[in-house]
Amino acid sequence: MNKKLIIANFKTNPSSLKEAIKLTKEIIKNLKTLKKTNLIICPPFVYFSELKKLARKFKLGAQNVFYKDNGAFTGEIGVDILKDFKIEYVILGHSERRELGETNQDINKKIKNLPFSIIPILCIGERQRDENHEYLNFVQTQIEECLEGINKRVLENLIIAYEPIWAIGKDAIREATALEFREMKIFIKKILTLKFGAKNVSKVRIIYGGSVNENNVIDFVKEGESDGFLVGRASLDAKKFVQIINNVENFK
Ligand code: PGA
Repeated sequence: MNKKLIIANFKTNPSSLKEAIKLTKEIIKNLKTLKKTNLIICPPFVYFSELKKLARKFKLGAQNVFYKDNGAFTGEIGVDILKDFKIEYVILGHSERRELGETNQDINKKIKNLPFSIIPILCIGERQRDENHEYLNFVQTQIEECLEGINKRVLENLIIAYEPIWAIGKDAIREATALEFREMKIFIKKILTLKFGAKNVSKVRIIYGGSVNENNVIDFVKEGESDGFLVGRASLDAKKFVQIINNVENFK
């Protein structure tokens, strides 16, 4: 059985290392041995060193990376630094980064520069849904441009997080429904298949993000056939987050 991915995106939280350690300890303290899920926690970069010491039941992931390994790029984190921390996952193209100006082309460069030891979690999703289904073209363009010219080996590990912007964060209109997610998952697979061939895309995992909580995860697993979740706000509340993980773990 394929394990479900549960990815915590702490974003620019918590505000201190002390709180980050406390939150992480609280999460792992209340977790049993994980059998059906792989847990990945993506904190701000500067917390890596300390949180790595706690990383037994989970792996650490990054929230971004630059498209060069190292060099004169003030303020950026290069691939070499992630490698040094043995980071295996990186979120790329989160809508909050796109909002700051990151383009599909930037994301494409980042994916192309990643070593195979680091798995990209590519975020895609439309700002709004329109009656003419233009949003499908928008998502298609995101996929095609972000993955343009990539080595097909990347597809063996690739994770795509479908995160409609209207469902993310405290201003979310609502979460997506499990059915909306399932339809989108089929659509994404179709686009990938047209671009790369069915054989190459069979292993791509497609997960859901946007107002994920302890009450909606099972629907997304059951009806939505989601391969996992990217969790923002609820990952900052240890109790809620553990409940999300346990619900997925206990799902039969
Ligand atoms: P949210 O954020 O769970 O707080 O809606 C999800 C995300 O931005 O990845």
